[in-house]
Amino acid sequence: MLPDRHELFSTATAILLSIYQLLQTGKVPVRVHLPSLFCMHVASHIQKVAEICWYRDLPTELTPNFETLHPNPGDLVVAVNLFGIRQQQPWQDWLQHHQDIVLIEDHTHDPFSNWARQSTAHYAIASLRKTLPIPDGAVVWSPQYLKLPKPSLPQSGGAYYKLMAMLLKRAFLDGAEISKDTYRLLQTQGEKYLSAETDAGVSIFTREILNCLNILELRQQREGNIKQFLELVSITEHPDWTPLFKSWFPGTVPFNSVLVCKNNQIREKLRQFLINHHIFTAIHWQQPLEGISSHDPIAIDFSNRILTVPLDYRYSSEDVAQISTKMNEFSSILTTA
Ligand SMILES: Cc1ncc(COP(=O)(O)O)c(C=O)c1O
Repeated sequence: MLPDRHELFSTATAILLSIYQLLQTGKVPVRVHLPSLFCMHVASHIQKVAEICWYRDLPTELTPNFETLHPNPGDLVVAVNLFGIRQQQPWQDWLQHHQDIVLIEDHTHDPFSNWARQSTAHYAIASLRKTLPIPDGAVVWSPQYLKLPKPSLPQSGGAYYKLMAMLLKRAFLDGAEISKDTYRLLQTQGEKYLSAETDAGVSIFTREILNCLNILELRQQREGNIKQFLELVSITEHPDWTPLFKSWFPGTVPFNSVLVCKNNQIREKLRQFLINHHIFTAIHWQQPLEGISSHDPIAIDFSNRILTVPLDYRYSSEDVAQISTKMNEFSSILTTA
C-alpha cells in the first residue's frame, strides 16, 4: 500500500523537521508556510528552527485562501488535506504557477486517498498512527522523485510505551484485572517521548506490522462508521451544533466526524457530557497552544468551537449507535434547558 520509494520515521513532525534540514543548505533562510488551522504542537517544533508564515485555510471553505500565501523561492509550503475531505485540484493548479517553492502535502487525515496516491507535490507525508492501529510511524515519499530525508536516530522507546499501553488496554477491555491508570500512564508517557522526537526512525514493531494490516478494510470501516453516525445524528438536527460535513467526494474518506458548536461554552458542555459517558473526543486544534497561534481570528474562533468525534476502525456499529444516542440525548437536554 505504501509508495514504492518511501522512508518511515517515528512521527510526521520528525519528517517535517528532517525535510527542512535537508533543504536548508544555503545562506538564505527557508521559511515554512503553514495553514491557519493546524496542529500547534507541530508548529512549536518548527518554530524552534524556522520562521513560520501562516496562510488562511479554514475547513468551512473548499480551498485555502491562496491570496494569503506569499512564499519566496525555496520556501516550504505545507498543504494539508484537512479532515481528509479536500480535493487535489486547487493545490495542483497553484503549484503549476509556483514551481520555485517546495510543496509538502500532509495526508495524515486520509493517507490513502486518491489525492495522496496521485500526488504531484515535491514531498508527501502522513502520520500513520492517527488512522491505523500502530503505536508510532509516519511516512514520507516524493512524487517528484526528490532525495528523501532519512532518520539518523534509531527507533523511539516511546513506541514501546504506547504498544504496552495498547496491549494492556485490550486486556482490560477483555476483563483482565488491570487498573486503567496503568495503561493511561504508559500511553501518556509514550506520547510524551514520541512528541519530543525530532529525527527518530520508526519502531521495528510498526515497520513489521504495517505489512500485515488490511489498510483498505480499516479505511472502509472508518467511512462506514462516519456515514452511520451522520445518519443517526442528523435525524434530530440541533441549532447549537452541526456536522462540519455530511458528504464527501469519491476517493476521499474523512478522518472522523467533526462537529462545529455555536460557541465555546456549548462545545465544552458537549465534550464534558461525552466524557461522562466514556466517549473521548478530540480538538483539532486548540490555539493558542504553548504560546503559538496563527493569529487568524476566524481559525482561532473555529478552534474554540470544533469537536472531533472518534469513529475509526476501533469502533463497531454498536459503538457508533451508542455514541449517536448520546449525541441525541445531549441535543434534547439542550433543547429542554
Ligand atoms: C494533520 C497533521 N499533520 C501532522 C501531525 C503530526 O503528527 P505526529 O504526531 O506524527 O508528529 C498531526 C498530528 O496531530 C496532524 O494532525
